[in-house]
Amino acid sequence: MSHDVPLIAILAVGFGLAFVLGFMAQKLRLPPLVGYLLAGVAIGPFTPGFVADAGLAAQLAEVGVMLLMFGVGLHFSVADLMAVKRIAVPGAVVQIGAATAIGVALAHFWGWSLGGGLVLGLSLSVASTVVLLKALEERNGVSTPNGRIAVGWLIVEDLAMVLVLVLLPAMAEMLGGSVGGDAHGSEHGLLLTLAITLAKVGCFVGIAMIFGPRVVPWLLRQVARTGSRELFTLSVLAVALGVAFGSAKLFGVSFALGAFFAGVVLSESELSHKAAEKSLPLQDAFAVIFFVSVGMLFDPGIILREPGMVLAVLALIVVGKSIIAMGIVLVLGYPMSTALSVSAALAQVGEFSFILAGMGIAYGLLPPEGLSLILAGALLSITLNPLVFAGTDFLTARIRASAGLRKRLEENRAGPLTRLEAELETVRANLAKKADAHKTFTPEELVRKFPFFAALPDDQREALILHFHPRSAQPGERIIRAGDKADGIYFISSGQAEVAVAGRRIRLRAGDFFGEMALLSGKPRSADVTALDFSQLMMLSQADFRAFARKYPDIRKAVAALAEQRGELNQQWLDAGADEDLSPA
Ligand code: CMP
Repeated sequence: MSHDVPLIAILAVGFGLAFVLGFMAQKLRLPPLVGYLLAGVAIGPFTPGFVADAGLAAQLAEVGVMLLMFGVGLHFSVADLMAVKRIAVPGAVVQIGAATAIGVALAHFWGWSLGGGLVLGLSLSVASTVVLLKALEERNGVSTPNGRIAVGWLIVEDLAMVLVLVLLPAMAEMLGGSVGGDAHGSEHGLLLTLAITLAKVGCFVGIAMIFGPRVVPWLLRQVARTGSRELFTLSVLAVALGVAFGSAKLFGVSFALGAFFAGVVLSESELSHKAAEKSLPLQDAFAVIFFVSVGMLFDPGIILREPGMVLAVLALIVVGKSIIAMGIVLVLGYPMSTALSVSAALAQVGEFSFILAGMGIAYGLLPPEGLSLILAGALLSITLNPLVFAGTDFLTARIRASAGLRKRLEENRAGPLTRLEAELETVRANLAKKADAHKTFTPEELVRKFPFFAALPDDQREALILHFHPRSAQPGERIIRAGDKADGIYFISSGQAEVAVAGRRIRLRAGDFFGEMALLSGKPRSADVTALDFSQLMMLSQADFRAFARKYPDIRKAVAALAEQRGELNQQWLDAGADEDLSPA
């Protein structure tokens, strides 16, 4: 049966086993990831029993990588990266360089080619985003300065790897890969290939960054306005996978890079949170398949056949990389606790290593046992990571407990970290200010502010929010001018405004709305409305309001009733004013 439906088989058995083993791993206080990898080993060709279709698994895994990179792109913050760049950039670059050099030396010792050594070293030099974020989340460390340094460091590593992935095929020949050709010609060809590759990537990045932020958020906003969750989720997926696939076909960049930029393009849009939320479940599911498919490639026999090589690789990942990272952080003048926590966070390898290793095999650079070695190193280092964290926690506690050590390793070196903390605080404050200016409410906040939206179903409330145009006004700013044509209705979310009509002034506060009278009557604006404070407003355009009012006659009635009341009041005041004017005469 399973031979007829290999895709269903791999999904059913893969998810099922990954769930059971992941759950068991969690119970044993290991990352569930270890369970997923073991599930892969169990359905792989190196263990008895059911063997899943490796080709299909690899394709599903690629979808996982695309969604993962899309997620990395969505959360990519240039401002955050800039704040930690002084430690993250030299850190990542030096660490990659040093780890790669050790990898090349190891490979040389084992008699591999230079290309094989480079692939080995590079794959062992880059840590896993998935593992790092999961570990930080568990320890509530994502937004701490040390956590941000580690994440920034990793993003630089990821970017470097994206470059490596693009350049590797072009350089495979020169490094002794399986593609033939005479040395001189290939050298000339290499430069050309390199130039063409870089030009293509540049072209893609340019187009993505120029058109992307204009087209993609606009498209998603249109879809969001329909109020259909399903269509929105679909549009997010279509963008992520479509851009990845299309850019791979058109520009020859990797799926991963395409998906990363699809995410970056969306990250600045106000819909990025919603997009992330919608793509997360699929991202999780396919990431599991990714780990399962990695496990499938792993030949556990390597641990018995080549225990020395496995240990060497593991030592490079866990001990070597940690010492290098620690050294860099200390040289840059940061406290010991930062050095320890950053090196623990990076003492593992993951997705990029597998992709790189797979590519190394495909281009004939890496001997087959290289892949198994890298997989063994990844599997073991991911499993050991919680232990490494426990070890560094222990050391940090010891240092802090001893007055002498604390002074020497922590307090005397606090300067750079304190400066970094202040800088991160500024970034956060700026982001908050920017977010405030474009603040759109969550459905719950909207109802709290404007109770008459409470009757709406959830998805309609979400759709309504997307129709709002956020606007801010300064004290004294004229928001509506009497006699103007109506553009829309305004809801005050914070601050105050004053209506001037018939010689009177009426104060409106957060939760109130104005501008409905001209919308309903089709006549010009009946009064001036001026902001009294710094005010945040939500504007609903005439067309959107009409469409909405047609759909929800009750809300239209409530708005119309208030408009009528206001109109009558104004008329009374006008009449009274006229009487007053007349009476003295
Ligand atoms: P509109 O005529 O579109 O533009 C001016 C707005 O001022 C008007 O809609 C009402 O929303 C508001 N407005 C006019 N009169 C009053 C009033 N008496 N009390 C409160 N708001 C008013």
